[in-house]
Amino acid sequence: MGAGIARVIARAGCETICHDVAPEGLARARAVTAKFFASSVKRGRMAEGEDAAALARMTDTTDLAALAEADLVIEAVFEDLAAKQELFGRLNTLCKPETLFASNTSTLSITEIASGCGREDRVVGMHFCLPAELMKLVEMSRGMNTATAAFDAAWAWVKGAGQVPVETQDRPGFILNAVLVPFNNDVIRAIEAGVAEPADIDLAVKAGLGYRMGPCELIDLIGLDTQVRLCEAFYPVTLNPRAAAPPLLRRMVAAGHLGRKAGRGFYDYREEAGA
Ligand SMILES: NC(=O)c1ccc[n+]([C@@H]2O[C@H](COP(=O)([O-])OP(=O)(O)OC[C@H]3O[C@@H](n4cnc5c(N)ncnc54)[C@H](O)[C@@H]3O)[C@@H](O)[C@H]2O)c1
Repeated sequence: MGAGIARVIARAGCETICHDVAPEGLARARAVTAKFFASSVKRGRMAEGEDAAALARMTDTTDLAALAEADLVIEAVFEDLAAKQELFGRLNTLCKPETLFASNTSTLSITEIASGCGREDRVVGMHFCLPAELMKLVEMSRGMNTATAAFDAAWAWVKGAGQVPVETQDRPGFILNAVLVPFNNDVIRAIEAGVAEPADIDLAVKAGLGYRMGPCELIDLIGLDTQVRLCEAFYPVTLNPRAAAPPLLRRMVAAGHLGRKAGRGFYDYREEAGA
């Protein structure tokens, strides 16, 4: 997610510092970014030469102190409250006082992430969708102590970057995942009950509801393990039985059928991947 968000920032014309603890992740992301910008030029979505300019606006670092002068830091580390709190605490000591902090969390509370960091008034939720460079939506939320001026500045930045901000409460799943996780689980339960094959469910949803992607294609893209993690985050908070991970989903994860990244999920991608 971090790499995709960095593409959005650089494409918008901002100096972009990509920080990761793992240098190999940064190198991988840079190669994918170069390809993405080059293909954007080919498709006419970026002006000739703008690909090289956008890439030149991006620097990679493993040194957190490189973010000291940033106006906005968007955090996209793995979904763990303690890791995010620790990171914002460290960033608070490194960054200039006016730097805004944003979290891309999908399920954690912005209020809790901000708690104890030392600048709770300048922390906002900024939830991009996968893949961030293609999807316009950014769900934005305030923690209990977020200052209006900070939220408004973050909102203006998101709009200025060409994204579509939508305000939502600080609650797990915000809008989209709160609707999608139970919906995806309903689909998995329908498959388990033998109602229809994954391809037929996808076809029905695309042809009948006008969705561009079917739910099984989507779950394969986000990862079946991610769907389990989302369920584990939502169910205890909502006690919505539709948010509990369906047995078929758990079996598929145990079998290693994690979706596109593993070569198979509801569909088989091994031939496509040349395996
Ligand atoms: N994957 C999705 O579909 C999706 C969609 C929207 C939001 N999110 C959210 O985005 C965040 C990241 O998700 P992801 O799927 O990209 O995770 P990921 O595990 O693929 O990537 C996390 C990255 O953070 C790096 N990292 C770990 N600790 C770090 C630290 N202390 N400082 C700097 N970098 C660190 C890791 O090296 C890794 O490159 C999570 O909060 C997740 O909920 C994910």
